[in-house]
Amino acid sequence: MTDLITVRVTAREEQGDGVVLLTLASMTGVELPSFSAGAHLDLHLTDGLVRQYSLCGDPQDRQYYRLGILHSPVSRGGSTAACALKPGDKVQVSAPRNLFPLVEEGENALLVGGGIGITPLLAMAHALHLADRPFALHYCGRSRQSMAFLAELAAVPWAGRVVLHISDEGSRLDPKALFDGAPDDRHLYACGPEGLMQALTDAAERAGLAADCLHQESFTPAAPCGGEAFEVSIPALDVTVQVGESQSIVQALAQAGVRVKVSCEQGICGTCLANVLEGTPDHRDQYLTEEEKADNDQVILCCSRARSARLVIEVFEVE
Ligand code: FES
Repeated sequence: MTDLITVRVTAREEQGDGVVLLTLASMTGVELPSFSAGAHLDLHLTDGLVRQYSLCGDPQDRQYYRLGILHSPVSRGGSTAACALKPGDKVQVSAPRNLFPLVEEGENALLVGGGIGITPLLAMAHALHLADRPFALHYCGRSRQSMAFLAELAAVPWAGRVVLHISDEGSRLDPKALFDGAPDDRHLYACGPEGLMQALTDAAERAGLAADCLHQESFTPAAPCGGEAFEVSIPALDVTVQVGESQSIVQALAQAGVRVKVSCEQGICGTCLANVLEGTPDHRDQYLTEEEKADNDQVILCCSRARSARLVIEVFEVE
């Protein structure tokens, strides 16, 4: 796990339908660790809850981190705790981490955000504007009242590049039209609900967009952890367990009395990260980067499995 930073909430604002905008600043006034557009950070909340939120501010700004958090009506505690933070509160965060970066070579960027999925794309728009690279930001919502950031988007220097798609005003996004006449060197960056993401993927494929030009960040958790059974050993604890076809490693270890510390249990937060000493993981998480997954020396225990018959691991935190 990365070292944590303690920050203070300096502003809280409610916008749209259940969106809370938080501004976080360093406790000491020193600059915060830098981040690149598309990055997120882990917010460490009460009772060991850890939740990930995209940084939606300007990456140039090293004084503040800005987060846009949707208070989920089916919250398992994370968004409720995050949205309850108020100015003056201290909270621990991880250093920013980017699993959704802008590619350097992409000349024309189509940014598409649905609902709260707009947040990483705001940081991307700031970065592309600063780099003087062409882009358009398409922001989709049910109604003007439900959408956060509208006043801000009207005031940014790149406001002319923002296109709003508002369902109850009849301007719902047509994914197919998005690609009509778009230049060949375009890259699509999309974040939003599953239906929007699938429609964009289908339209991009039909338009002939190369797979490596399609960049998505999804709200959906990691793939279900089922698959072939395999064995997991932890030499330091002298434990070996069989992980069943529909079990996670965390569950199999718990049956043997080894309670690995978990938080999101969806392969997002990294709390259950372990080192791999032997064997090859079958990565199902959204925490490790593609490079880290290729190294095969770490595994997320709440959702990933094994490609080999046996994994030998080293766990960091057990309860
Ligand atoms: S508990 Fe969050 S990644 Fe496993």
